[in-house]
Amino acid sequence: MPKDVSKDSGQTSVLRAPALSPQPVSVTRKMAASLPGLRKLATEKGLKIHHLGAGYPHPEVTDPRAFLAHKARYFEHLTSTSGINNPDDIPEYLRESYAYTDTLGPVSVRENFARVYGGDWNVSIRPDFLLPTVGASGGISLLCSLFERPGVPLAYITDAPTYAGFIARAQLASQARIYSVEMDEEGPVVANLRQQIEAARADGRLVPFYYSVPDGHNPAGFSFSDRRRREILAVLRELGVLIVEDAPYVYISYASEKERPRPFLSLDPAMTVHLFTGSKIGFPGPRVGFLYSEATVSIQGDRQVPLRDLLLTESSADILFHNPEALYGFEALLHDEDMKLRESLWPVAEGKLVVYRENRGIILDGLDRGLGALSAHFTWTVPQAGFFTVFRFLDEGITTDDAFVQRLVADHGIVVIPMYDFYPRDARERNPRAGLDELRLSFCFTESQGEARRRDLAESVAAFCKAVRSLTGL
Ligand SMILES: Cc1ncc(COP(=O)(O)O)c(C=O)c1O
Repeated sequence: MPKDVSKDSGQTSVLRAPALSPQPVSVTRKMAASLPGLRKLATEKGLKIHHLGAGYPHPEVTDPRAFLAHKARYFEHLTSTSGINNPDDIPEYLRESYAYTDTLGPVSVRENFARVYGGDWNVSIRPDFLLPTVGASGGISLLCSLFERPGVPLAYITDAPTYAGFIARAQLASQARIYSVEMDEEGPVVANLRQQIEAARADGRLVPFYYSVPDGHNPAGFSFSDRRRREILAVLRELGVLIVEDAPYVYISYASEKERPRPFLSLDPAMTVHLFTGSKIGFPGPRVGFLYSEATVSIQGDRQVPLRDLLLTESSADILFHNPEALYGFEALLHDEDMKLRESLWPVAEGKLVVYRENRGIILDGLDRGLGALSAHFTWTVPQAGFFTVFRFLDEGITTDDAFVQRLVADHGIVVIPMYDFYPRDARERNPRAGLDELRLSFCFTESQGEARRRDLAESVAAFCKAVRSLTGL
């Protein structure tokens, strides 16, 4: 019998699985775990807690009650237009909502989404190529699973810094390694992107894709320029690597219609795997997402197959099918008050943007007011989309590690997220100080609403500026 005894349960383990090891815990989860204790410490000192850390949608724009009423009306509309005369008969949507369905999910949902989303981004979307996913996270996982399946050494190319959820998923597979690419103010440095792909191939690794968040980058707090997007595409086309475009913030956009950069989806759907999520334009709870790609892959035996076919098989063996009721609920969101299919999701986005635009203004104005005169010492990004700005200390002597952010909570009541953990391991090996001069400030979440929200956020940013001045002695 193995001698290994679990300290927690006091039980002897039954299964021997020495190949398994625990995964590292992300800094956001560590922060969340240590927050109650730090919060207690801060409140004992009479400090108010200032939320600049949480990346959640704001409660003011995610009250589900109006949506549920709209959904109920939409479902009534589906019943009344279903041609059913006998009240005992079950309408199609209802029967399907609680039945086993196809992995692609209800056809009407995909057709309607293809029309509305395609219209918004000026791209013709094929409904039969829309694959329902469990949020954008499900899309990331599905792609990784597909390429991990053959067991060959893999390289995932991504930005430094990159989305924590992608790092977490990528490092689940021991045969995969992240090769990261430093960014400048327009996006990933294209020469480095090329270099990393070539280095990974020289190391004998398959390079399936470059993963990024081009609009409202989480955590980098900016959007890629149009010029950079085209440069990225040119390199990836030449080298035969797909781009995975994680797009949760395309509608959480502060740019005017003319200034909005085009997503990769609309620049080249044959080079792109686009991940749409309902989490920010709608609600995270129903876990609605779609993966879309017109890419073709050359596989075993030199066969050319649509990536969509491979992913569909993968998905049917994985989730089998998405929750059809949630998909019909999403379809309700695609319809207006008169139950007409919307021409665009922008009016829905506007319902969210009223809060996020205002919050962004409060944060950027507050930083300008509090630290604008000290621009030789600090910078911050001005996000064109998304939930975040990245604040950077330009002077040496500040290290934004766990101890630093814990002090910010305990001594100033300020919750922010350190950036270093968003840098993949290789980026930190190249530059051990990567991210250790940066903090991610989010402006999406407060506990309060309306006027109290505005006041709380203004107080938070003022408190942050004061703390920064005190910590740096400026
Ligand atoms: C870049 C990015 N990708 C994916 C997600 C997760 O999205 P979903 O709820 O669709 O899984 C988030 C959530 O914050 C995100 O910021």
